Amino acid sequence: MVDLNNPEALSTIDSTGYFAALAELGTQCRQAYALGRETRVPAVADLSTVVVTGLGGSAIGGDLLRVYCQARLRVPVTVNRDYTLPAFVGRKTLVFAVSYSGNTEETLSAYQQAREKGATIVALTSGGKLAALAGADGVPVIRVPAGLAPRAATGYLFIPMLAVLESLEMLDGVEAEVEELARELAHYATTYGLGSPVAQNPAKQLALNFKGRLPIIWGASGTTEVVAQRWKGQINENAKAPAYWNVFPELNHNEIVGFEEPAALIRQLWVVILRDKGDHVRVGYRMEITRRVIEGKVAGVTEVTSTGEGMLARLYSLIYLGDWASVYLATLYGIDPGPVRVIDYLKGELAKR
Ligand code: F6R
Repeated sequence: MVDLNNPEALSTIDSTGYFAALAELGTQCRQAYALGRETRVPAVADLSTVVVTGLGGSAIGGDLLRVYCQARLRVPVTVNRDYTLPAFVGRKTLVFAVSYSGNTEETLSAYQQAREKGATIVALTSGGKLAALAGADGVPVIRVPAGLAPRAATGYLFIPMLAVLESLEMLDGVEAEVEELARELAHYATTYGLGSPVAQNPAKQLALNFKGRLPIIWGASGTTEVVAQRWKGQINENAKAPAYWNVFPELNHNEIVGFEEPAALIRQLWVVILRDKGDHVRVGYRMEITRRVIEGKVAGVTEVTSTGEGMLARLYSLIYLGDWASVYLATLYGIDPGPVRVIDYLKGELAKR
């Protein structure tokens, strides 16, 4: 098994420079904000909804936007992970079409629909067909640097949308929040980074707890739900391992009952509870009681509380821990975190039809 205290050994497994990309996330967020601010987007008359259409690593930024805007925006933000857009999309909708590669077929299809429906569109991409189409259609394009795995480009695939909404005077104070976020990420890059030994590194400790077990990630609706979803996706794509997520309070009304049998399997679960100061006070009580119900039945429970002031820094303080833990878990399995051959295979097979 690879030694997590040996940075050279970890880097050898990582053929695509995933660790380096993670360490640079704070800088990426700053650049992403500037890219969003310099894009001119026409104001939408009588705006009724914001829709983010994308998949996988290009969709999670939409969920971050949805959660961030929930208490701040007078219109709803919806995330669409499909070929087709909901019927409510029309002239009063602002659509962000997000695809890092620019070639994801579901997103290209949704983009065409948004055009037909007369929505105001902003394309967020590093290039590909989406950049070409949008360029030809006169649709604003926020072009982000290429060369990363989409899921390592979460700053580029989220922050520019915030910047656009700020330019449209729908949000304020974003710049200061991005600055706090970049500072926090720079700080955590050291704490979670390759050079920080297991004894002082919560990301490495989590990876060791996850190894050989099934991670179950629980967040709270309206705050850390998007973090729980992100952790699951990152464990899947980076460590190539299964993981599951759910949210409080909903999981108290079904999932929590399912901790009786098969007892041997349940003993292989490692549960993470994500906490944030924005959680409803009674959700906090639910987390405590739920922990008591499952402790002793599962392999272990880790509780993590977000840090920072603004919501961006708080959400990312947790996302970042999960990102690092998932990459360390990959190395513990001897797996290269970057390539996602199964996704490439699926896209390749579909391209033949
Ligand atoms: C790969 C990844 C995937 C992609 C998804 C959509 O790193 O995260 O989830 O994001 O297959 O592709 P793009 O982002 O190019 O539209």
